[in-house]
Amino acid sequence: MDKKATITIEDQSYEYPVMVGTENEHAIDLRSLRKDTGHITFDEGYGNTGSCESEITFIDGEKGILRNRGYSIEELAEHSFFIETAYLIIYGELPTNDELSAFRLNIAHNANVHTRLENFMLGFPRRSSPMAVLSSMLNALGTYYPQMASNNRQQDLEYFDDAAAFLISKVRTLAAMIYRNQTGQPYIYPRNDLHYAGNFLHMMFSEPYHDYEDRSGLTNALDLFFMLHADHEQNCSTSTVRMVASSGANLFASISAGVCALWGPLHGGANTAVVRMLEEIYRTGDDGSKFIENAKNGKAKLMGFGHRVYKNYDPRAKIVGRVAEGIVQKMGIKDPLLDIAKNLEQAALNDDYFVERKLYPNVDFYSGIILKAAGIPVDMFTVMFAIGRMPGWIANWREIALNPASRIHRPRQIYTGSHLRPYVPIDQR
Ligand code: ACO
Repeated sequence: MDKKATITIEDQSYEYPVMVGTENEHAIDLRSLRKDTGHITFDEGYGNTGSCESEITFIDGEKGILRNRGYSIEELAEHSFFIETAYLIIYGELPTNDELSAFRLNIAHNANVHTRLENFMLGFPRRSSPMAVLSSMLNALGTYYPQMASNNRQQDLEYFDDAAAFLISKVRTLAAMIYRNQTGQPYIYPRNDLHYAGNFLHMMFSEPYHDYEDRSGLTNALDLFFMLHADHEQNCSTSTVRMVASSGANLFASISAGVCALWGPLHGGANTAVVRMLEEIYRTGDDGSKFIENAKNGKAKLMGFGHRVYKNYDPRAKIVGRVAEGIVQKMGIKDPLLDIAKNLEQAALNDDYFVERKLYPNVDFYSGIILKAAGIPVDMFTVMFAIGRMPGWIANWREIALNPASRIHRPRQIYTGSHLRPYVPIDQR
């Protein structure tokens, strides 16, 4: 029998249907609440609010489960790679050989960006935040493909396959250009024969007449890093992409907004903040224990710990931690930050404050170790997250665009300002 929920306001009761998801998640369908009762729901931070139905990603935060299109992140991490997982997330199925080849070719052959965009890049001050530049460049990219960024939903959908491949490909070129520009080095053009992560490392670190060589498996580690970040349900940046898309805005504009949302230290910016925190702990000679005390007293925040959804280990953090350790060993790096990170993790996992609040390491806690080993500067870490998250943002934009019932996202509020007041002329204030 279909479940119902009853809401009683004063002496009047109202019945609402209960929606059940594929994995038995339950929601009270309150779409007609305001019409029926004159009341709205209040849920600042949206911790209890389902903003959409989605077929893309499932997370059970209590059990530490993450699945993209039904495939567990552990299985994808073991058998798949970024571009295949990107296809899966965007189109819903693992690609056949032909589908994968076509997708790969479209990505490989569209890695260049228009030379006029190079001039645009030069206009930014040398020390600009890479995330500010990336967001601007991605929106600007759309102006070079007006047919794909028309804000006419039907037309944008007709060009969707190309727009998706262009964005996945060019975000990587733009990221490398940002780095080369900031460090005053000439741009290195992409090589079609290299796989996704390898081409990125080539554009970042090759020199004229001297191609980048990977002797430590960093290309694979980076591919895994991108894959683990590929989609994560209705997080802050993905919800932003959906919010912007809901107005009918094109894919480029929606994703540019997603990059801005990701930038914040409570979201993607946490991977930068973790390394800054570890460096600071190292600088002060603390083994981590003082910092833990400060985090418990509210004087500091243990960056890379805690999550709105996971009340258990973030499954991505386990994989990233393992890979980070493997890379550090293989490269023979003595990174004191890794030791501090391990101390912090052990101390937190055995401390009542963190245990009671169910605070576990999230994906950002160890990912910086891999990025540092790959030679990526710390201020580029969140850009790396953005490259990885591209498929998820694209898939969520597509889900909105293909849904004929999709409505503009427009929450309501509880107004707490002044009542109506008469205007006071300036000489009487
Ligand atoms: N260090 C210390 N205490 C923490 C931390 C932390 N990292 N995270 C949460 N807490 C505490 C809060 O102070 C609060 O304590 P209280 O109940 O005594 O007031 C309790 O745990 C609940 O925390 P909230 O802030 O209410 O949790 P929320 O779901 O709003 O925030 C968030 C989640 C933003 C991820 C938070 O845990 C945080 O700031 N973590 C550090 C930043 C970070 O790593 N962000 C990356 C998230 S993953 C991602 O976006 C890729």
